Amino acid sequence: MSIQTVLDPTSDLVEHFGNMPAEVILKEGRGGRIWDEAGREYVDFLLGSGPMFVGHGHPEVTAAIQAQVPLGTTFFGNNRHGIALAEAICDAVPCADQVRFVCSGTEADLYAMRAARAFRKRDKILKFEGGYHGMSDYALMSLAPKRPGNFPRPTPDSAGIPKSVQDEMLVAAFNDVGMAESLIEEHKDELAGVIVEPFQRLIPPKPGFLQALRAVTAKHGIPLIFDEVVTGFRFAYGGAQEYYGVTPDLCSLGKIVGGGFALAAVAGRADIMKHFDRLAMEDEDFIFQVGTLSGNPVAAVAGLATLEVLRRPGAYKQVFATGRELMSALSERCSTSTLPTSRSRTIAIRSGPTPRWPSASTSFYAPAAS
Ligand SMILES: Cc1ncc(COP(=O)(O)O)c(C=O)c1O
Repeated sequence: MSIQTVLDPTSDLVEHFGNMPAEVILKEGRGGRIWDEAGREYVDFLLGSGPMFVGHGHPEVTAAIQAQVPLGTTFFGNNRHGIALAEAICDAVPCADQVRFVCSGTEADLYAMRAARAFRKRDKILKFEGGYHGMSDYALMSLAPKRPGNFPRPTPDSAGIPKSVQDEMLVAAFNDVGMAESLIEEHKDELAGVIVEPFQRLIPPKPGFLQALRAVTAKHGIPLIFDEVVTGFRFAYGGAQEYYGVTPDLCSLGKIVGGGFALAAVAGRADIMKHFDRLAMEDEDFIFQVGTLSGNPVAAVAGLATLEVLRRPGAYKQVFATGRELMSALSERCSTSTLPTSRSRTIAIRSGPTPRWPSASTSFYAPAAS
């Protein structure tokens, strides 16, 4: 059996966002398979870039959505399913005293950074080169720089970002404890927060890296933000913070938590989250945050049904066993293939030279094993 790929091995995958050439028009998904309009069937390693973790059209998720739709799809107000999902997040995620819903991971990261700024009354955020935190002006600093880092000065990854944003972000090298510690020490009086993907794209944290970040930020009272948009409810039910045993002050969640719908969240310590509470804050400390569809009941029931599946005994055992099986089968095939591949605890099949930082669109996300 040969490996078939829809990737064009001669072009840059970043241009094929979502790992699919533009001419592939998808029609249907069931479980771990998808079909295109031309009738071709694929094994879906992408799973919607993460949200469809329990598979496309999962019967329990589908039933929950179907039951809710006739009762109303959005209210722009609290609803019992949104409240139940917020409670489930607080029960699961170590740092989550409180939750605020948004519609995308981009927004969740944006508000997490804003909450850190409001709490610390400072502006600068430190991120890591290659770390993906969505599409905001701040997040698009040194995501995929073309040249080696000029730490801590960030470079923008998109046109249209105000030049001033470069002055509000600092960039360090992921897994370089010494660099992170010395930058945080040096800039402690200007730093509002530190944001990190606990497992950055394809790169696992070196033993001690997250612990060192936790220690140095705690020492100076600087909020540490884990971007758990990918890792939340994935590495463990409590996310990467449970898996690695390091509790940040804030985290962003997305993908799985919305069960395939537009729902994401910022969660964290009550004294930081209270900045979102108009009744608790003076005007100048209040974070104004609303969104038309935030916490809508359809997304909330989809998220709740997904979490229910993941709470079952053995769910994560199965996730890791499947990840291991895929890793070893793919590695075996890749070793005899002409496609350029790389492997850490995830596998990437890509074209062209090795990128400095593998991007979202060149990676499979299945965690392989501890
Ligand atoms: C770690 C991480 N943060 C944030 C985001 C942005 O999420 P969204 O695409 O929902 O805006 C992503 C998306 O892939 C992500 O992987």
